[in-house]
Amino acid sequence: MENKLREIRERVLAELSEARGTSKLEQIRVSVLGKKGELTGLLRGMGQLAPEERPRMGQLVNDVRRAIEEELEKKGAELKEIEKNARLEAEAVDVTLPGPERSAGSMHPMNIALNRMVEIFTGMGYEVVEGPEVEYDHYNFELLNIPKNHPARDAQDTFYINENTVLRTHTSPVQARIMTTRKPPIRVICPGRVYRADEADATHSPVFHQMEGLVIDENITMADLKGTLDEFARQMYGEGISTRFRPSFFPFTEPSAEVDLTCANCHGAGCRMCKGTGWIEVLGAGMVNPHVLEMCGIDPKKYSGFAFGFGVERVALLRYNIPNLRYLYENDLRFLTQYR
Ligand code: PHE
Repeated sequence: MENKLREIRERVLAELSEARGTSKLEQIRVSVLGKKGELTGLLRGMGQLAPEERPRMGQLVNDVRRAIEEELEKKGAELKEIEKNARLEAEAVDVTLPGPERSAGSMHPMNIALNRMVEIFTGMGYEVVEGPEVEYDHYNFELLNIPKNHPARDAQDTFYINENTVLRTHTSPVQARIMTTRKPPIRVICPGRVYRADEADATHSPVFHQMEGLVIDENITMADLKGTLDEFARQMYGEGISTRFRPSFFPFTEPSAEVDLTCANCHGAGCRMCKGTGWIEVLGAGMVNPHVLEMCGIDPKKYSGFAFGFGVERVALLRYNIPNLRYLYENDLRFLTQYR
């Protein structure tokens, strides 16, 4: 037994001095001092010794155990320190590394187009005003010379909230709100969302955007309207882009025109975008109907004015040669991030 103890002591101490990690130490500890460990086994076998041998052997076993425990402790502290240093080194942050790349967002082409439009008109002295999207029939229709049962109501497939309230079908009700609350001179633009019960397709969406313009002062003529829109076309799309007025009808303007812009894609030569005509229809416009001025409390003998209503999507599509309205609404980042 004595030999066995000596052998254990030498072997285990040698093993300990070679151990390379705290987990190895623990393994050794269990195999020697654990419940089923070698030394524990010996201790249990003491019962078979002659009674007078027992105290000495007990002493010896305890000596061996203490020696091993001491060594375990010393080695353990050493290895822990080494492991801690290794961990600190591994976790060290290299503050000189470049930071993670942050991708900058890009503007939606609609916003770019709208911002540019607003910039151009405010540059000409216009003020931006807004109105509600849930609108009274009174402003959306009545004050714009579209009484109940007027056929023009059918042309704008209206979403009704109730008998007197609609989702505005155009931005023109903002005109009516401004005319009833302000005195000329008036020079405003009114961008915003409008709603029509249309099927969605390449050129229609039940929700889209318009930008209304309204100017009222003394001696305002159709020439001012034409000059204003030509200047807008030039600033928005560049030299060589101008407007073409086609006679049309809106109950709230007289005379009225549908206004085309030179196709920015082919500069008027004719292409697929403009279906070979060289022109693209972008807005409705006209001189404010004197009857509308009167209903809104402005003296038509003293004042005259013009109004126009842009389809903002049209302006954006034309600006970027986008063939289908849906691209603007599908939120496909591969599409959207192309525009700055
Ligand atoms: N509100 C008209 C529409 O939505 C456009 C328009 C605005 C026409 C202003 C004339 C003047 O179709």
